[in-house]
Amino acid sequence: MLRVENLSAWYGEARVLRDVALRVDAGEVVTLVGRNGAGKTTVLRCLMGLHAGQRGTVELDGRDIGRLPTHRRARLGLGWVPDDRGSYASLSVAEQLTLPPVLRPRSSAERTGLAWSLERVFEAFPVLYQRRSVPASTLSGGEQQMLALARVLRMGARLLLCDEPTEGLSPLLVTQVGDILRQAKRHGVTVLLVEQNLRFATEVADRHYLLAQGAVAEALDNSAVRSRERELLAYLGI
Ligand SMILES: Nc1ncnc2c1ncn2[C@@H]1O[C@H](COP(=O)(O)OP(=O)(O)OP(=O)(O)O)[C@@H](O)[C@H]1O
Ligand SMILES: [Mg+2]
Repeated sequence: MLRVENLSAWYGEARVLRDVALRVDAGEVVTLVGRNGAGKTTVLRCLMGLHAGQRGTVELDGRDIGRLPTHRRARLGLGWVPDDRGSYASLSVAEQLTLPPVLRPRSSAERTGLAWSLERVFEAFPVLYQRRSVPASTLSGGEQQMLALARVLRMGARLLLCDEPTEGLSPLLVTQVGDILRQAKRHGVTVLLVEQNLRFATEVADRHYLLAQGAVAEALDNSAVRSRERELLAYLGI
């Protein structure tokens, strides 16, 4: 579904990605792990078309999307869940899940039935149902993360790009995010997940890429991550 080759990125003169290559097949959950500053967020920003200084190939379903603006990529089914959670803080939770730009009439997502209904969102995220009438600015960090995830599912994203969705969450909310990702997967959603929690990563994902200094250092399966957990945790500095 997603194929990335020779992806390089710069901040000014500084090169932060070096020929990153990775692929995510339809229906997979794949993680990107790496130390702070390894370039994980930059990879996601490049895929979403949010990073100006980039070069390389980004293909979605065999189509080169590397030069498309962000909104076109979103329309093709890419859904970005940023680590800063960026929400319209003064709107209530329910408003954020119903008002434009979340709902785009006649979008391809609605035609294909991928866009989650409000009912389904509230079923999957009971905490958002409980908090549906309060302004999003009063949500905890974990609840805001849930809301950010819910919004891209409402938009009918087929490929979620999630940047550290479990960061700062209580164990209960981490479990809920895991359930949601597994549920999304069952509904045909594909996920590329930046994740530092290795145990969580092996519970939800099929495969992993280790990013080191802006390059893919290794591709790992779940058994490799489990058997090398100590070494990897030490390397990641967690
Ligand atoms: N706005 C910016 N201007 C200049 N350099 C930046 C900027 N944002 C990130 N960088 C640098 O680019 C490199 C990659 O950053 P990036 O945020 O992609 O890493 P990351 O793996 O997501 O890190 P973290 O685990 O801290 O989220 C780092 O060396 C960082 O210092
Ligand atoms: Mg980051």
